[in-house]
Amino acid sequence: MTVRTRIAGDRDDRWWRTAVIYQVYVRSFADADGDGIGDLAGVRAKLPYLAGLGVDALWFNPWYASPMADAGYDVADYRRIDPAFGTLAEAEALITEAHELGLKIIVDVVPNHVSDQHAWFKEALEAGPGSAARELFWFRPGRGEDGELPPNDWRSEFGGPAWTRVPDGEWYLHLFAAEQPDLHWNNAKVREELESVLRFWFDRGVDGVRIDSATMPAKDPALPSFGPTHAQSAPPTPHPFVDRDEVHGIYRAWRTVADSYDEPRALIGEVWLADPHRFAAYLRPDEMHAAFNFDYLNCPWDAQRLRSVVDATLAAHAPVGAPATWVLSNHDVTRHVTRYGRADTAMGRSPAQHGAPTDLALGTRRARAALLLNLALPGSCYLYQGEELGLWEVDEIPDEARQDPFFFRSGGADIGRDGCRVPLPWSGGRPPFGFSPDGAQAAPWLPQPDAWSALTVEALDADPASVLGLYRRALAARRAEPALQGEEFAWLGEPEVTGVLNFRRGEGFRCLVNLSAQDIPLPEGESALLASGPLEGEGEGEGRGVALPPDTAVWLRG
Ligand code: GLC
Repeated sequence: MTVRTRIAGDRDDRWWRTAVIYQVYVRSFADADGDGIGDLAGVRAKLPYLAGLGVDALWFNPWYASPMADAGYDVADYRRIDPAFGTLAEAEALITEAHELGLKIIVDVVPNHVSDQHAWFKEALEAGPGSAARELFWFRPGRGEDGELPPNDWRSEFGGPAWTRVPDGEWYLHLFAAEQPDLHWNNAKVREELESVLRFWFDRGVDGVRIDSATMPAKDPALPSFGPTHAQSAPPTPHPFVDRDEVHGIYRAWRTVADSYDEPRALIGEVWLADPHRFAAYLRPDEMHAAFNFDYLNCPWDAQRLRSVVDATLAAHAPVGAPATWVLSNHDVTRHVTRYGRADTAMGRSPAQHGAPTDLALGTRRARAALLLNLALPGSCYLYQGEELGLWEVDEIPDEARQDPFFFRSGGADIGRDGCRVPLPWSGGRPPFGFSPDGAQAAPWLPQPDAWSALTVEALDADPASVLGLYRRALAARRAEPALQGEEFAWLGEPEVTGVLNFRRGEGFRCLVNLSAQDIPLPEGESALLASGPLEGEGEGEGRGVALPPDTAVWLRG
């Protein structure tokens, strides 16, 4: 085992504290071989684009061998790359090439479940009831006279029961799709295997992992039903499978693995929890390094509410010394250009909002302002592929093209998450917009809207005022600005009165975001470094006051 030699606090050593991390959803990023599915060769060809954008790290959604029942979150083999994406050798080359460009690499690890095509699960099915192989999962006899009822009343996150019966009569637990059997973490073999998977990727130079569904691996072994008094929406405490105290042992052990490298690896958790103290417990110094800030993602476009979330975030992170994170979009939620253009601007995943009237121009203006807010807040920031192009949620996907288990398990009542996963437009005036090469044998796996011809990288490239231009300039300015690398943060002004977010970072750097309906005069004596849109009165000569229009943000130096 190697010993950590770098000095704690060394900037590069703790890159995750301030990094801007770009999420690559491989399936929809770039398709090099023309089968309509993004792949690693496609990503490798675009690494210069990502480095040029100015991000610090790339997070890859699962790229492992998988039957894709849940877009790769059903992992059949952690040590192989899915053949649709490429090979292990290509992943290794990608890691090296990204490092050469100064980009860190984060891979997704799914501790809660595996695929029903994973060797362990296949073996468990064959070995039958009472076997050691079944103990790696949650197999149980059913209730009722002939065991025809599931062992308890738990529901799958995707809808329907959380249990599926196998031909010999036993049932197995799956908190997600039936193709994703839950692992039984009381088993040493499960713990050892996942730690070995971490080492497998860390040994290949991966700089960190994103931990999927991180609150869910530990279960109450009694598997109690919620019963009528505790519907799943009003569960008992402790919850039988969310955020149980035992789960922290897993991440302490993972932290030991991460810290055993010369350059310690980062653990970043998907921790959806309402209670800020329970959330922060995952970020104690011997557990994860960072976790996604879903309260921020779910916050409406409202100055007072945003200010409260920022305060609550900073207050929750301070006692454990962890960096805050700022995120507005990912592969599970409605793209924020769309969310911010609707009457209801809250809630990342809002199937009920499907088809709601959307003002995309307004949503785009707010999304641009939100970028300057995200990048100016203290901590690290996550960007989801395509937000730098101003992509919106694609609502009009035909049912037969949909792939998300949310859609199938709800009988179509929940349209699912495909609308934020549509392949990226790179160039040209027609689908596949350079996502696949000319003459590709297959269309992109989800159809792209024709109107994306205006949002290709090629179309936006030359225009510094485009969304892409703004992302590039903002990321470059963030890197160059020492105040944004530090931890100092202080509010200025009162949002209750003005509907404005107004804060200082270090000496002389201020961020103002106007969420009100009026122009806001800019403070005199401060100059605009960067604005998310045109300012009022700019360039109109000496003595004229400059104002910040509604749904616009500005970085000021004074
Ligand atoms: C996480 C992933 C989501 C996946 C689920 C089950 O929430 O982000 O995409 O469906 O876990 O693995």
